Amino acid sequence: MNFVPIDQLKEGMKLDRDVYLYDYKTCKVAMLRSGQILTSAYIQKLSELQVLGAYIHSDEKQGTQRLPQPPSPIKRELKEEAISNLENVFDMFDKNAQNINISHINQTLNISKKLVTALKHNKNIELSIANLKIYDDYTYNHSLGVSILAIAIGLSMGLKTKELYDLGLCALLHDIGKMSIPIEIIAKPEKLTPEEYEVVKQHPYKGAEFFLKHKLANKTVCAGILTHHEKYDGSGYPNGLRGEQIPLFGRIIAVADVYDALTSVRPYRKPSSPTEVLEYIMGGSGTAFDVHIVEAFLKKVSPYPVGSCVKLSNGEIAIVVGQNDCHPLRPLVRLLSAPDQVLDLYYGRENLSLVIENACNIATDDLESPEEEDDPVIE
Ligand SMILES: [Fe+2]
Repeated sequence: MNFVPIDQLKEGMKLDRDVYLYDYKTCKVAMLRSGQILTSAYIQKLSELQVLGAYIHSDEKQGTQRLPQPPSPIKRELKEEAISNLENVFDMFDKNAQNINISHINQTLNISKKLVTALKHNKNIELSIANLKIYDDYTYNHSLGVSILAIAIGLSMGLKTKELYDLGLCALLHDIGKMSIPIEIIAKPEKLTPEEYEVVKQHPYKGAEFFLKHKLANKTVCAGILTHHEKYDGSGYPNGLRGEQIPLFGRIIAVADVYDALTSVRPYRKPSSPTEVLEYIMGGSGTAFDVHIVEAFLKKVSPYPVGSCVKLSNGEIAIVVGQNDCHPLRPLVRLLSAPDQVLDLYYGRENLSLVIENACNIATDDLESPEEEDDPVIE
């Protein structure tokens, strides 16, 4: 199964998940069921309703078309190039600089440039990150995930292209110092002892020192590597910097790092849902994280994209029909029980007591279906 963005959906593709739609003409919620073969009319309707894309069945044996490569930010070739390059660069660090090869670092910068180019047109970074997690190797996968998120934040903040290239490079390399930590500590499923934690806390310094000493990256990139675990309120490490004392790249990577780390599987815990992690980051805005960077981040992630189905705290089921900038947990929805009204969960004061409990599926018996009626979705 792959998420295919709306502009790459093709006739003949088979849905692998239900897609919920609100029909403005009939005021009914309709659905395209999992297993439905897409027609050009369905694709056009999805586009009109601003659905970002759909999960498509990828088993060719079952008669579906060959899928296009995943969307641009997560192109397989670029992922493979990045992972292979990071292996080389991290290996270089591991060998304690006996084999410094500047071409590896140049290639990392080149990958950062490609990521920036690809991300400039990406509407929902969350989808890219979810698809990235197919890689088993946490460190390289995490480095790439953090880089994508960091570039997305940088784009949202209006950074210049050259700054974005450096930011992507910095994020790809931010954890290279972990190569100096014994694997028994990195992969330990239990809580670390205070002594072990002190060893872990060395990794920003070790990474930055490596690049500075061998003149492999500029000072801005090295400063970002050094400060990616500092916290806005001064409670981070290694130097307990606070506020604007923390370089911009350090503040950006701090947010991207936490988001990607908490949504990933680790030896010591299950992944948290994107919603839980967003709440965690919003809760830390102004204390652990820079408020402006959290705002920029929230503009780029959306755990409830248009067309998804959610359960509200009052028990009602609703379809997401629009987003509120900076408030991804409080979109615009239509209730199944009153689909002629839009509830704005952020700006509608009467709705402030309502929260989204979770994404859900609708009992299919409650819905119109293209298979059962003439065609409730397509006029
Ligand atoms: Fe780190």
